[in-house]
Amino acid sequence: MNNQTPFVITVATAQHTFYAAQICDEMEASAKARGTGIAKRSPEYIAQKMLEGKAVIAHDVNGVWAGFCYIETWSHGKYVANSGLIVSPELRKSGLAKLIKMKIFELSRTKYPDAKIFGLTTGLAVMKINSDLGYRPVTYSELTDDDAFWDGCKSCVNYEILLMKNRSNCLCTAMLYDPAREQKPIAREQLQILTPIEEHKTAVYGSYTAGSGSQNINPTSI
Ligand SMILES: CC(C)(COP(=O)(O)OP(=O)(O)OC[C@H]1O[C@@H](n2cnc3c(N)ncnc32)[C@H](O)[C@@H]1OP(=O)(O)O)[C@@H](O)C(=O)NCCC(=O)NCCS
Repeated sequence: MNNQTPFVITVATAQHTFYAAQICDEMEASAKARGTGIAKRSPEYIAQKMLEGKAVIAHDVNGVWAGFCYIETWSHGKYVANSGLIVSPELRKSGLAKLIKMKIFELSRTKYPDAKIFGLTTGLAVMKINSDLGYRPVTYSELTDDDAFWDGCKSCVNYEILLMKNRSNCLCTAMLYDPAREQKPIAREQLQILTPIEEHKTAVYGSYTAGSGSQNINPTSI
């Protein structure tokens, strides 16, 4: 798909709200098929996200719906989640979710540049996409403690496990993108660990050139 995608992937606006009911139906059908519970969203909730400029929609050139994702915020905007990722079943496994997530990630970074972006998932596809975007696996202690977020787990079939573990663990993998961590330069002490290796390379390079008389040995190949 890449740059040749036949889909329009854009920040949703008022003109896309008519897709809301179809998106909700697909979210429910997909959750049933997976056997997981899901925080049930109403068409009004989805439409509201579009009106607020907090959603990304994908459709083909004829306007046929293809995919969706939206932004939620927690702890007064300190944490952001890109939720409700869904791709039309017949269009899956062609890279569409990746493009939608890239777009919603970019939108999240623009709207909330200092926020930590996180997600909880059991799905390999989402784990792969999140890793590519720079998310790292974390323990639940790194996530928002906003009760409103955790209330969303109530409709999951595994909610009892989460309660039993006192919200410290469950079947989902937590992943987080922390802008502060990603922008931090590598610590000086870490850099020093590299120094002896560099010295070693230089030393070997020096003895080769002396012994062979050649100046053409590439030190990076040693
Ligand atoms: C999950 C979902 C959004 C993925 O959409 P998609 O368009 O098929 O995903 P992509 O084609 O962009 O694939 C992204 C990566 O995941 C992999 N992948 C996709 N579906 C997969 C699956 N079912 N199992 C394992 N890997 C999968 C792809 O091979 C690709 O990997 P790569 O980076 O190594 O190439 C889609 O299956 C869906 O809508 N499912 C129902 C709703 C859902 O589960 N949402 C996620 C809630 S956390």
